[in-house]
Amino acid sequence: MIKTIHIINGPNLNFLGRREPGIYGYDTLETILNELQLNFPSVCFHHFQSNYEGAIIDFLQTHYETIQALIINPGALAHYSIALLDALKAMKCPIIEVHLSNIYQRETFRELSITAKAAKGVITGLGKYSYFLAVNYLLKLNE
Ligand code: DQA
Repeated sequence: MIKTIHIINGPNLNFLGRREPGIYGYDTLETILNELQLNFPSVCFHHFQSNYEGAIIDFLQTHYETIQALIINPGALAHYSIALLDALKAMKCPIIEVHLSNIYQRETFRELSITAKAAKGVITGLGKYSYFLAVNYLLKLNE
């Protein structure tokens, strides 16, 4: 039974709202997380954001036994971090990868997500709703 969902955001996602708003919108990460909590009051969310690949890997390794479900927006790490892919592959829980922007509509180097290989599914291009749909899916696993 999934009651707790961990959300990890990678590099530069702490800068949402200020960072290329034409692509990522004006919502800050805090606003998105608050909205998620309001929409899913029964879920206990834990959030971790880092601009450092190693910090994210350390976080995953520290919590790999206890994380029930994971939503990750790896940011640019999605496109090149085999180390993050390996860490995600060690996880026991369902993983959904999300992206705010549509990675297939942008530069060609964004079209490949290496980390997606560890994910059950990928939701890309729906802005903050990428996170919302990921939560919906994870809760469906309880049915
Ligand atoms: C992103 C897409 C990545 O290509 C980019 O490096 C990001 C954000 C997204 O949410 O759309 O940092 O993951």
